[in-house]
Amino acid sequence: MNIDDIKDVFQPYEKLIEIKILGETRLVPENNTLLRCFQYLSVESISFGDFCWNGDCLNCQVWVKNGDKEKAVITCRANVQPGMEIVRMSDDIELI
Ligand code: FES
Repeated sequence: MNIDDIKDVFQPYEKLIEIKILGETRLVPENNTLLRCFQYLSVESISFGDFCWNGDCLNCQVWVKNGDKEKAVITCRANVQPGMEIVRMSDDIELI
């Protein structure tokens, strides 16, 4: 399974944008939820992961840098923003 197999699940996007995940810069599709961006990066582990995709399970939760603090984000409900820095993730999110 690769990105071509799931291309229909993404919202239309024209470019990839940079975000940081645990200190590493990654390129992900603009205009999509963070969980879709994770799926873009790691097709199998997210597609077959334990995710409800509708805000109920919280398995997709991450913490994003927000000034000196961290803000919890439900990634299936939050769109990616350029430059966002994810500093912690739920154990259910496995990115390759
Ligand atoms: S995937 Fe279940 S709350 Fe986001």
